[in-house]
Amino acid sequence: MIIIKTIDGITSRLRKFRSIHSSIGFVPTMGALHKGHISLLQNCKQVCELAVSSIFINPTQFNNADDFKKYPVTLEQDIYTLEKNGCDVLFLPDTNEMYPDETIPKKHFDLGQLEIILEGKYRPGHFQGVCQAVKRLLEIVMPSHVFMGQKDYQQCMVIKKLLEIENLNTQLIICTTLREENGLAMSSRNLRLSEKQREDAAAIYKTLRHVKQNIRSGSLLQLKKDAQDYLSGNNFKVEYVEIAEADNLNIVDEWDGVTRLVILAAAFIGDVRLIDNILLKD
Ligand code: PAF
Repeated sequence: MIIIKTIDGITSRLRKFRSIHSSIGFVPTMGALHKGHISLLQNCKQVCELAVSSIFINPTQFNNADDFKKYPVTLEQDIYTLEKNGCDVLFLPDTNEMYPDETIPKKHFDLGQLEIILEGKYRPGHFQGVCQAVKRLLEIVMPSHVFMGQKDYQQCMVIKKLLEIENLNTQLIICTTLREENGLAMSSRNLRLSEKQREDAAAIYKTLRHVKQNIRSGSLLQLKKDAQDYLSGNNFKVEYVEIAEADNLNIVDEWDGVTRLVILAAAFIGDVRLIDNILLKD
């Protein structure tokens, strides 16, 4: 694996590659890699000739300074993991390389309702920051495919929108969420959970599964309320449990029994914020 820290360096390396091959796969990350990231890399290697990953803890997507400060950093281990799992190129820029001129006003991305619902509502500015970093990374790497995890369902929708509005010639591949044995969705933030919290956090997936098993056409209000109450009763501070149309994230309170739906939840256990989702009708 080659590690490249500068835009000039990665641009010239990928230019050479692009002159001979057609597919470059890209797995953008903020490090603290876990099996979910490895599975993104494995998907990438199946589809593309070259696997590029990046590690950049993007300051502009943290709406909470404390969350940024506490974000786990495991760089040495991450480099080892990427190398061992067949990553060809690791792009490792610093903040100056990514955002050289702080005086340039930040571009605003028109994300429509995606920006104000669910994660957008509770993490104002978060998706603008994600788009800022991802757009920059995509313009640098110019991948044919970008691989992202379904665990960040709304982020996937945001990136789909970003590709459309910025006319970027990259295909988004959404990969299934990897889970711990108890059902807890794998996430870098899990590193901040105590063993007991890890066990308790399995309640999120349990709740989502319960809704999937019990959903019927008609009103969804009671089912949503029961899910919220169950989590609150199990020591979570719930931000939302919502059911939405899977294709556009329109929140629904009634179901026609046909439309593809997704249930999404965000809740704190201690001071760690976790999110998860599952499709209710595959
Ligand atoms: O999902 C993440 O790790 C980040 O939001 C991403 C896509 C790497 C952008 O900084």
